[in-house]
Amino acid sequence: MADLTLKNARWLAPDGRFQDGTLVIREGVLRLSEPPHERAPVLDAAGMRVVPGAIDSHTHLREPGQEQKEGIERGTRAALAGGVTTVLDMPNNAPPIDSEERLAAKRKLFAQRSRVNYGLHVQAPYQGAGRGYASAKIYLARSSALPALGPGSLQEVFRAHRCVTVHAEDESGFLPASGFPGQPRSHHLQRPRAAVTSALAAVENALGSIPFKERPRLVLCHVSTAEELAWLEHVKSMGWDVWGETCPHYWRLTEDDYVRVGPQLKVNPPLRTQADVDALLSALAVGPIDFISTDHAPHLPQEKADEASAPSGIPGLEWYLPLVLELVESGRIGWSRFLELTSRNAARCFGLAGRGLIKEGMRADLALVSRRPGAPKPALITGAGYDPYPDAAFSWCVERTIVNGRIEGQAGEEVVT
Ligand code: NCD
Ligand code: ZN
Repeated sequence: MADLTLKNARWLAPDGRFQDGTLVIREGVLRLSEPPHERAPVLDAAGMRVVPGAIDSHTHLREPGQEQKEGIERGTRAALAGGVTTVLDMPNNAPPIDSEERLAAKRKLFAQRSRVNYGLHVQAPYQGAGRGYASAKIYLARSSALPALGPGSLQEVFRAHRCVTVHAEDESGFLPASGFPGQPRSHHLQRPRAAVTSALAAVENALGSIPFKERPRLVLCHVSTAEELAWLEHVKSMGWDVWGETCPHYWRLTEDDYVRVGPQLKVNPPLRTQADVDALLSALAVGPIDFISTDHAPHLPQEKADEASAPSGIPGLEWYLPLVLELVESGRIGWSRFLELTSRNAARCFGLAGRGLIKEGMRADLALVSRRPGAPKPALITGAGYDPYPDAAFSWCVERTIVNGRIEGQAGEEVVT
């Protein structure tokens, strides 16, 4: 049974403050008012902070179909290393998860292999009933061999699902590599920000044409530009049910890093400018960003070797909490905002009942972190085989990750039903 007692615990409470005491876990559930169970194992959390395990709403673990790139077992070990206790995995498998049969088959694999909790996104257009998945994902641009969904089908998809996640880059706004002679690293120029704004216009148009009450919840994935932040402010101010997600690489790295490093930092949407980074840092502090995902997208080292043929995508899971804690360390965000960005808001957005807060009756999904500036980074886990942040010094470490009351999570549970 997943009983556990955390003694000398200092945990992040729902009000954004730390509370000291003993955290009692019974059968995987937080029982703050109960006395410790006599036979339960005890973990001494002295010197650490206990925070909710992160909920990463956007991962690509590549199983089924491309296990050679990573797979569920390895990907969820990387999640544990980053303090992530729940992943919502994207549907661009090979073949994509666009039918009930394929969803059921993928669910079975996660049930067998995932060490963290999980939920699955399906790919639009989707053949099947409107339940049992986190969202329907729309790609408005080709990405890693996936064809794009035409803007003409947007309204149909919006009408068919309760929650839609969107990759907002309009393929028709892309430019050919041949337009940038002498610039072998032109990925960011080929996918300009104008392609984002035209995708947003198409999304707004299609969503706006549906009566307010019939619209789905919309998540704008991996926000990378100041324009997307302005758009989020605009639609939120009209009361639209739209949420903004961003990823650490969009505030830690710029297009200059991509040009310097090369295909390892080739990603969709591409890395942007320092002005975008500044806008994102402010949006992380005060909105309109609602939560942080990794868009963990591993590819094999040999696939990433050549600029022209390299698929887009970078890994991120194992650096999740250290990267976000760096925002706390630098004073950019406080603990209450940390809580919203890493767990609380994603749990609310995707309806993950009983998760995302350290509170009586919630599932015991926890990360124990400690401030250890200069501590060496742990060994690499991801199948991608590289660290996109080799020069980053982290001030915080993930010491332990607890999933459903089990240390280093033995088996995940499905969180979306
Ligand atoms: C993703 C992948 O590799 O699956 N790549 C990426 O650059 N983000 C696909 C995607 O989400 O666009
Ligand atoms: Zn993605």
